[in-house]
Amino acid sequence: MKKIKIQDNIFVNPMPVVLIGSSSQRKDNFMNCAWISQVNVAPAIVSISINKNHKTAISIKETQCFSINIPTEELMEKTDYSGMVSNRRISKKELFDVFYSEEFKVPMIKECAVNIECKVVDIKEFQTNTVFFGKFINCYSEKKYLTNNKLDNNKINGFSVIMPDNIYISKGKKIGNALDENTMKKFSLLY
Ligand SMILES: Cc1cc2nc3c(=O)[nH]c(=O)nc-3n(C[C@H](O)[C@H](O)[C@H](O)COP(=O)(O)O)c2cc1C
Repeated sequence: MKKIKIQDNIFVNPMPVVLIGSSSQRKDNFMNCAWISQVNVAPAIVSISINKNHKTAISIKETQCFSINIPTEELMEKTDYSGMVSNRRISKKELFDVFYSEEFKVPMIKECAVNIECKVVDIKEFQTNTVFFGKFINCYSEKKYLTNNKLDNNKINGFSVIMPDNIYISKGKKIGNALDENTMKKFSLLY
């Protein structure tokens, strides 16, 4: 099989979709994030890559903590909206029921299946993005998402995104559009 060189700015798809929770000067915020990856087993550490201009990046630098919230399919539109508007313009916390983690009191979303409180243990700056390495401090879920006291991914119903096609998928099937104009219109009227 002959390989041919293609453009070099491609995405590694599909990418899991999470909502990153942060807070600055008592203003809670949630941002759609797909550039997230597990980087260490024990202790559990993940990396999240956030554009330097986003309010989320500025807040995490200030507080050195953040939350990872795993949305279910039912939250797809609200999650998408959180990826289209900045906390500079609107307060996105009204979209969700919020609770606070034990250690850093970082905002988390009740409707999400899994919530992880992270402490920043390292930061790497690139041209456009800041990569935060977060160590897991506390993880939360609900009985309905567990089997034998362990998280059951079949019950969680999370979803992923494919870029640059901008479609959300779950279990291999398209469930909606990312960066969707109709979602933007709908939620701009509500919030
Ligand atoms: C599906 C999807 C995934 C996204 N993933 C990221 C990401 O990984 N990193 C990032 O910096 N922005 C990402 N964004 C864009 C931000 O969520 C968006 O710019 C947001 O409005 C920033 O909010 P903030 O300024 O309140 O922090 C994503 C948007 C969507 C729709």
